[in-house]
Amino acid sequence: MSGYRKTLTHFLIEEQRLRQGEGVLTLLLADVMTACKTISDLVDHGELAGALGTHGTENVQGEEQKKLDVQSNELFKFCNTIGGHLAGMASEEEDDIVTVPAEYRGRYLLLFDPLDGSSNIDVNVSVGSIFSILRCPEGIDTPCAEDFLQPGTEQVCAGYTVYGPSTMLVITTGDGVNGFTMDRNVGEFFLTHPDLTIPEETKEFAINMSNQRHWEKPVQRYIDECLQGTEGPRGRDFNMRWVASMVADVHRIISRGGVFMYPIDDRIREKGGKLRLMYEANPMSFIIEQAGGMSSTGRERIMELQPKELHQRVPVILGSKKEVERIVSYHEEADQEA
Ligand code: AHG
Ligand code: MN
Ligand code: MN
Repeated sequence: MSGYRKTLTHFLIEEQRLRQGEGVLTLLLADVMTACKTISDLVDHGELAGALGTHGTENVQGEEQKKLDVQSNELFKFCNTIGGHLAGMASEEEDDIVTVPAEYRGRYLLLFDPLDGSSNIDVNVSVGSIFSILRCPEGIDTPCAEDFLQPGTEQVCAGYTVYGPSTMLVITTGDGVNGFTMDRNVGEFFLTHPDLTIPEETKEFAINMSNQRHWEKPVQRYIDECLQGTEGPRGRDFNMRWVASMVADVHRIISRGGVFMYPIDDRIREKGGKLRLMYEANPMSFIIEQAGGMSSTGRERIMELQPKELHQRVPVILGSKKEVERIVSYHEEADQEA
């Protein structure tokens, strides 16, 4: 019975005792989890809750918004405004930062992709939410967008929830990665997957193969060598998966290893990539690195990038360490030749 397992709250209190922290994060995460539990309920009810279909609007990045994108964004904002822990929020679905009224203001900044994998909502495939927590810079009461532009190495906490057959939370506060499963009947997250680590090597890759003709040479080379299997230079067969929900693909890699790539390609070069640095790449990189994996653009460690704008996009290559190292070395070789 789940009641005999550690709850997320107990886990965080214990972590904070060990580090002699103040407990603010525990309360802040309780608010984030209220949003996630409610989104999980919406996903669970689907059409019964009027959660499917398009909203008929576009977000700041020119992407069509689904009803669930908008509903999830509103829930994140509502649940996290009055808790007293946040100085401001930034969302993939908002043009500008979300200000917190002065009477509720706290010391942290919350950034989120409220609903990741939007293209999967209407076809009943796993989606999720991703979040990242930063400190509001010292001496700033009313943060502006620039105050959010901190490298991923500054994150205090990052996590994602995946709304799959089970709803799970995977989280790091910089001391390893732990996984929790939501008990719907009890309404709590219970620790089910302590100390998650990613195997260094893998035989599985995740990439949208339909973009192959647009990729750069090093990515072409890596995938080509994987596809050659036992007859190629890798000397073994590889398997491929692509859910098209980053949360679900990353969760598989956290669970059994693998490498995930949304590389730069000619189609999206002007935008800088497909995935968003602040809401997707940084929090996932923090989790992957804390689980013993590696995360890179192919040329730089993602967590060390100095963000230039809130909705910045970046190439993402993450997962099992040895494979990501190999892909990075292919980029180095190609750049040297060029
Ligand atoms: P979002 O739904 O938040 O816009 O993110 C979708 C992202 C990511 O979850 C996924 O890995 C990728 O886009 C899928 O892109 P393709 O449809 O191009 O494969
Ligand atoms: Mn996303
Ligand atoms: Mn999204």
